[in-house]
Amino acid sequence: LVADANRGRRRQLHVGTAIMPHLLDDLKYEAVANEHFDHVVCEHHHKWEPLLAKRADGTEVYDFTQSDRIVDWARRGGNKVKGHTLVWHVTSPKWIEEAPQARLREAVFEHIKTTMNHCLGKVYAWDVVNEPLHPDATGRLADTPFLRKLGPAYIDDCFRVAHHTDPNAVLILNENKGEGAGLPRGRSAKADALFALSRDLLARGVPLHEVGLQAHFDAAGTGQRRVPTPHSVARNIARFGDLGLGVNISEMDVRAAGLEQVGLGLAQRDAAAAAVFHDTLAAALAQPAFTGVTFWGFCDAHSWCHDFYKCVDRPLLWDAAWRPKPALAAVRRALRGA
Ligand code: G3I
Repeated sequence: LVADANRGRRRQLHVGTAIMPHLLDDLKYEAVANEHFDHVVCEHHHKWEPLLAKRADGTEVYDFTQSDRIVDWARRGGNKVKGHTLVWHVTSPKWIEEAPQARLREAVFEHIKTTMNHCLGKVYAWDVVNEPLHPDATGRLADTPFLRKLGPAYIDDCFRVAHHTDPNAVLILNENKGEGAGLPRGRSAKADALFALSRDLLARGVPLHEVGLQAHFDAAGTGQRRVPTPHSVARNIARFGDLGLGVNISEMDVRAAGLEQVGLGLAQRDAAAAAVFHDTLAAALAQPAFTGVTFWGFCDAHSWCHDFYKCVDRPLLWDAAWRPKPALAAVRRALRGA
């Protein structure tokens, strides 16, 4: 895939995947990951809570064994690593809920420094803050211990600490459901909020370099969950580009199981997912600000969607028996510009 993306192109585009460390024991998984992608992301193991182990006396200590396994494997294969993610309330240790303001402030900055320093020279970019916007898409920030105790400037401060720790790292703001702009009936509200937040961070001199649009799509989505049109994705990327920011698609997968309810068979569902992959990527690739795409895994046997949505779906590029799917061919076509 990475060769498809960069054939005849003047700028280098990344094509990456999320990785789970235990799956690297599977020779097929390891070989496909090595062949098709030029950068990888730890799907779970670079986050705050998963990095903490308990000592016998109950105190916490950083344990990078799992994330290092992915980083070392990637580097041996000549691949780059994007760090995901330094600050996300969902995967922070539970005690941040009770921690007083000063303790939380110190702890989150220490966490950023410890994690980035451990990875210095090995991780080229970081999702510094993940999903800071409220899911209600009103534009307000998510109600988290970070916001409640540190105020909205916690985002500025985390980016500043990250930049101070590794001045060479590309620093990214990563968000979900903000992929399309200019959509009717409020469907672009979150994208507009992400744009406003990014613009304001830059205006305050915050070292923000790139925005990540997650792109966990559902081909059966309706209303607020409808897949944004390719035109709206292009328009959104273009306006971030006008701010001087890069934009990547950071966690792409496309579910389609819901289309069974409207009578679509497997082949039609696969075709619908393939069309979403193709059309979104083709639109993104035409934008000068676009830096690349990371898929949230590549084999249907290993997707977070099954556990999270409690249903079997086919959101990735190879099926559970490693047969290439229409989605793979569609991604190839989009990356080649065909
Ligand atoms: O490995 C542990 C195991 O030791 C434990 O016994 C078991 C019991 O819960 O859980 C296992 O950990 C799970 C982990 O994935 C590894 O499989 C966690 O419970 C589970 O919460 C975790 O889910 C990940 C989630 O982020 C939280 O880190 C998903 O794999 C991952 O796909 C998901 O990714 C997020 C992005 O980071 C941000 N955007 C949305 C995206 C999907 O939710």
